[in-house]
Parts: sequence; structure tokens; C-alpha cells
Amino acid sequence: MRVWETMEDFDQFIVNGGTVEPGDDMPSAYRQEVFRFIEMHANSELFGGLCERYWVSRAPGVHRKLAFLAKTQDEIGHAHLLYMVAADLAVKSRAQMIDDLMAGRSKFHNVFHYKTHTWADQIVIAYLVDAAALTTQQAVLKQCSYGPYRRILRRIVSEEGFHMRHGEEMLLTLADGTVTQQNMFQAALDRWWEPVMHFFGPPTKDGDLLIRWRVKSDTNEALRDRFVQKFVPMLQEYGFVVPDPALHRNASTGKWVIGDIDWAALRATQSNVGPDSAARIELSKQSWDNTAWVREALHVP
Ligand SMILES: [Fe+2]
Ligand SMILES: [Fe+2]
Repeated sequence: MRVWETMEDFDQFIVNGGTVEPGDDMPSAYRQEVFRFIEMHANSELFGGLCERYWVSRAPGVHRKLAFLAKTQDEIGHAHLLYMVAADLAVKSRAQMIDDLMAGRSKFHNVFHYKTHTWADQIVIAYLVDAAALTTQQAVLKQCSYGPYRRILRRIVSEEGFHMRHGEEMLLTLADGTVTQQNMFQAALDRWWEPVMHFFGPPTKDGDLLIRWRVKSDTNEALRDRFVQKFVPMLQEYGFVVPDPALHRNASTGKWVIGDIDWAALRATQSNVGPDSAARIELSKQSWDNTAWVREALHVP
């Protein structure tokens, strides 16, 4: 077990590229910050899995159904792994985390506070939301100071890469399809572009502890920009319009510049009062209650 006498010693350890392990006597503020971050990630994976599951029976054709079934299993698996990593930090037990989530006391990513209206919404999620998650997780994976999280992310990121490709393949089917299919995707893109921009979070404040302690290695703006530079040209190439009237290319750098972001909708989701927050939390509770018999049979608390 490593012990740091002062916060300066700990900061220096992090700056020098050190990795913190669960048995270390880490500063309580670091433990809390890392826990908060991983708990939110775990909650979001669980909600992502439930969102996928809804579409298993609705996906067109047996191959799509199989793919959605596999993706649902992946996301629930990611949630399991992350809840274990979070529980090892001994801030809350796994049961407490689940209780808080079902009671609406915990946070989960903004994109899971919205309703999916059509099959194309689910494709936007599989392509753009998984790609956004991949962008943020790759940045954490690079040099996250908390060892168990960095190691578990290696596996999660490889599966998220498959999810994104799966989303892209479905998107291409619609892009090459009928005008109705193309319009359906465009309408979904119009609904989801702002939530996807919000996904990266508001501009990172100076002194952000997650950056100081190398849990995150990039600011929210840098991650959002990386995503925009890659996906704006892709969407345009596939024949779709990015719904941002102020979007343009900087004449000297050639980089894409997005318009100002209105953060009101993100703030609502952060307080669990987004457009579909209550229904999503209720769905997760029903799902948890309906599977109680499995936990009882396996003697899992
Ligand atoms: Fe996932
Ligand atoms: Fe995923």
C-alpha cells in the first residue's frame, strides 16, 4: 500500500506518471472524484444497455436483432465491470449505487434522458453516441492515473469500436436507401445533434480535478472538437446536413467551427429532469425488479 504524506507528494506522483491502485492510501478527494466519474460511466452503460434492449424486438430482420442482442449484452457487461471497479473504491457498495440510480439520485449521461422515436434514432445512437463515448474513453485510456479503470477501459473501448462500426454500417444502409429512409435519418440527426454536442460536457473549468489528477487527459472542448472534425465531413459525405446553421470552416486553418451551444437542455438532464428522464429511470427500476428472481437464485445481493 502506498501512502503519500502530503497532497503535494500525491500531485507530484501523478505528474510523474504514477498509477494509483485500490489498496493505496489515496487522498479522499481523489477517491471521491474517481468514484463519481466511474459511477456515472457505469450508470450510463446500464441505461445504454436498456435502451438497446428495447430495440432488439423492433430491429428489422434477424441479423439486426442478433446484433442488437449482442450489443445489449456488451453494454450490460460494461456496466457490471465498471460497478465492480467503482465498488472497490469503497465509497458506496454496488447495491447502494443501484439503489441511488433507481431512485433518481444518481447521474447518467445526457443522451439517455431522451426518447428514441424511430429506428433511425437508434442508428444515430449506435453511430454518433458510441463514437462520442469512444472519443472520451480513448482520451481516458491514454493515461488515466487510476489503474483498474484504465485496464477495464481497454476492453470496453475495443467493444465500443465494434458498436460504432455497426452503427456506421446501418447508417450507410439508410444513406444508400430510399428517400424516406434518408429523410428518417436526417430527422433523427436533427433531434440528436445537440444532445451529442452536450455529451462532451460544458467547457472545462480551470483547476478541474479530473484533469489535474490525470483521470481525464483532455478538456471537454478538445474532445468535442476532435469529434466535430471527424464526423462533420463524414456525415456530409454520406449526404446529410449537420443541423447547425452557424457551422463553417475556418478559412485559414480549414477546421470546422460549430455555433454557440445552448446548455439549458444539458442542465435539465443533469438534474434528472430531461425530456424522458422519469420514464428511463422507471424503466430501469422495472427491469431491476423483474430480474430480482435471478439474483435471488444466484444469492447475489
Ligand atoms: Fe458500452
Ligand atoms: Fe456501446
